[in-house]
Amino acid sequence: MQLEPLKQKCMQHLREFYAQWRAIPIDKLEQKWITISLIVIGLFVGIITVDALFHSVNPPGKIETVDSASLHLNEEFAEENLGVQVDAKGDITIRMVAGRYSFFPKHITVPAETRLTFRWVSMDVLHGVHIPMTNMSTMIVPGYVAEITTTFPKPGEYPMLCNEYCGLGHNHMWSNISVLAREDWVAPARLPVEGAANDK
Ligand code: CUA
Repeated sequence: MQLEPLKQKCMQHLREFYAQWRAIPIDKLEQKWITISLIVIGLFVGIITVDALFHSVNPPGKIETVDSASLHLNEEFAEENLGVQVDAKGDITIRMVAGRYSFFPKHITVPAETRLTFRWVSMDVLHGVHIPMTNMSTMIVPGYVAEITTTFPKPGEYPMLCNEYCGLGHNHMWSNISVLAREDWVAPARLPVEGAANDK
């Protein structure tokens, strides 16, 4: 194995670095402030690491593109496919469109204490979505799908806020998600999609 010499070389460099560092004349007060700032940085990195590992606060996982200008023609994000859907395995996916100045569909109802996969797209400009008390906080970049998996800890009304400045109506861009107890929630019935629009 080549690892041992590499380790020795690294240790050697570290020792040299430490010796050089010790040789720099630093004022006592300055030393104190350097220590404080290093502790603060360490604290922040620690918080981010704990959040990422234990509270699944992560950036949207994969890069998936979508044509924001033709979402209505897109199979997945056509109007009739938006909102809550339960697949054959029982997994819940919620497809949402952000557009100036609202989230569509306007209102959804989801179960608490259940793993939910949100798929967000923008129909126009850069938006964001933030749901307090959950890990939901992401940019919704036009041209990309932002996928976030979240769980609502308890039933209630959760606000859903746009947190990227998107225009004059930005501060009005918010809505609510109703979260019901798992046993009270009923999966929404799906209307047959094909040809349905012509029958009305
Ligand atoms: Cu949408 Cu701010």
